[in-house]
Amino acid sequence: MNWITKMFSSSLGQKLIMALTGLFLCSFLIIHMVGNLQLFKHDAGLAFNKYAVFMTTNPLIKTTSYLLYAAILFHAFKGIALVFQNKKARPVKYQAFDGKANSHWSSRNMGVLGTIILVFVVVHMSNFWWQYKFGHVPYTKYTVNVGDNSLSSIPIDVTNEDYMKGFTEKLVVRPLGQVDEIIVKDLYRSVELGFKELWLVALYIIAMAALSFHLYHGFKSAFQTLGLNHKKYNGAINFIGIGVFAILIPIGFAAMPLYFFIK
Ligand code: HEM
Repeated sequence: MNWITKMFSSSLGQKLIMALTGLFLCSFLIIHMVGNLQLFKHDAGLAFNKYAVFMTTNPLIKTTSYLLYAAILFHAFKGIALVFQNKKARPVKYQAFDGKANSHWSSRNMGVLGTIILVFVVVHMSNFWWQYKFGHVPYTKYTVNVGDNSLSSIPIDVTNEDYMKGFTEKLVVRPLGQVDEIIVKDLYRSVELGFKELWLVALYIIAMAALSFHLYHGFKSAFQTLGLNHKKYNGAINFIGIGVFAILIPIGFAAMPLYFFIK
């Protein structure tokens, strides 16, 4: 057994990898949140659709995506394994153990919270990500006035348009003098339609509540595992963990399905 396999199988090594993958997933959440804020622009989805093309075609981002999928799988399945290991190591609950007094509710339920988030990610990716990459997403033609940036948009049925025959690109821009014609895969419309479903909106809100509690404990716990908890920084770590990851990020994400459901 070399040092890498030893490190991966030791309980400290596993906790370190959980902490590192967890923090990597936190950084993804910030980027995903900022990108998805384009959904709130009043431009019939043009900025969001352009952003989706960029995210799925830029080679650096595509490579990072593979790391992201590996991190999600590793973090989720190692997390579940750790919960079972801990249960096995302590099959009978301590009689005098008062969990409430010693730890926060979220720290005792990380496995359940993580499982809710995993179910959410599977449903979420099969909805938008799978549909965008492998399913049918309709196109929209935007006409943008070069002078004042005003725009109009019409949904197009690719199969009915002669000039779109054999069309495989996600984005085509045609400068036509006074106007630019932009034809783009309209993921915005898929999101808009998806969030008209009550069950989906409810799942997103429940999952974002679970994400909030998971990160409330997980963010600061990752720094502790990495040995980066120091009196000097604990205030900042708690502030970011609670303010950004347990409050801002889940509320921001939950606002998106709610916005389209009410709109
Ligand atoms: C509620 C608001 C959200 C919306 C509207 C949204 C929208 C989308 C869309 C449209 C895609 C496919 C296009 C793309 O890759 O950019 C996507 C991908 C993805 N989303 Fe979300 N998302 C939301 C929240 C979340 C949350 C909270 C998580 C994680 C806990 C998440 C995880 C992912 C992952 C892992 C991918 C695949 C990314 C990749 O292929 O690089 N999303 N999301």
